[in-house]
Amino acid sequence: MLGIETSCDETAVAVVGEGRVLSSVIMGQSDIHRDFGGVVPELASREHGRVITRAIFVALQEAGIESPGRDLDAVAVTRGPGLAGALMVGVSAAKALSVAFDLPLVGVDHMEGHLYGCALEQPVELPALVLLISGGHTQMLAVDGPGEYRYLGGTIDDAAGEAFDKVARMLGLGFPGGPEIEKMALEGAGEQIAFPRAMSHKGLDLSFSGLKTAVLNHLKSTPTPNPPLVAASFQSAVVDVLVTKMSRALDETSYRSLCIGGGVGANQALREAISALAMRRGITAVIPAKRYCTDNGAMIAAAGAFRYGRGEIGGLDLGADPSLELVREAD
Ligand code: KG4
Ligand code: ZN
Repeated sequence: MLGIETSCDETAVAVVGEGRVLSSVIMGQSDIHRDFGGVVPELASREHGRVITRAIFVALQEAGIESPGRDLDAVAVTRGPGLAGALMVGVSAAKALSVAFDLPLVGVDHMEGHLYGCALEQPVELPALVLLISGGHTQMLAVDGPGEYRYLGGTIDDAAGEAFDKVARMLGLGFPGGPEIEKMALEGAGEQIAFPRAMSHKGLDLSFSGLKTAVLNHLKSTPTPNPPLVAASFQSAVVDVLVTKMSRALDETSYRSLCIGGGVGANQALREAISALAMRRGITAVIPAKRYCTDNGAMIAAAGAFRYGRGEIGGLDLGADPSLELVREAD
């Protein structure tokens, strides 16, 4: 299965065969967007368009695919959610491959892709609790069976990754903010600043906008702020809130297995806190390798293989859907 991902600012193409990653090419664009402090949609689409053919070529070559029509079973592509123009580049490339090599086309939900990033690590025992934490989404889902998702809770304002990116900007750090905050937090020894843990006493929903404002207020009201301490204290607040909610969701579901997906899942402090939570409860945590937490083509190929196995094949009318929803909040 070939997987193509262009929903945001990585042009990613991978070949996955029987759950094994045979190649995974990721062409990032942070250098292009850095000066703007965030992803500029038009620049993202143009860059995807510029490099997509090369990304596909390299992914096929590294996987040792000589004849795509013979060696691949299908082509999977992210059809949403994401930036419209960026998604369209991937979808068009996938259609071209499908026609040229007479391969079935499989449309994939980006968030289901993040979930299947876990399956690249090890099989996930179902039912499972899943935390999806990316730049645009923060949600907890119950996976009752293959493809059966229930929304348990999620952010009512900013996504966790978005909060990392915004706080990084306040601290004058680069983009994307998550890895920058993580690096700076390593130097932030000392007593932590008591940033708020919003909504931690009830329910499964989360909020990060109060935390973001608290960081801003702290920076404004402190004559000489200590950036590493701010970064470390902010990161602890995010990790605490996420772990508290996961813990509560486990109380409510009594699931014995949990997994995480999405770019924020690359955060070492969060990974350790979630492993510790699983250990305390004697349950299994599947935490994908960092390269499969941030956007990649392998997770799209893996999710595509699942959908393909169910006979879900798209036609040439397959469209990009920027606001595709894996599971509705109201469900
Ligand atoms: O899943 P992803 O690569 O793209 C989206 O689907 O959005 O997630 C990107 C987000 C960004 O907000 C980025 O700052 C955050 O994930 N991120 C991190 C780390 N690496 C990436 N956040 C915290 N710690 C990290 N190490
Ligand atoms: Zn993503």
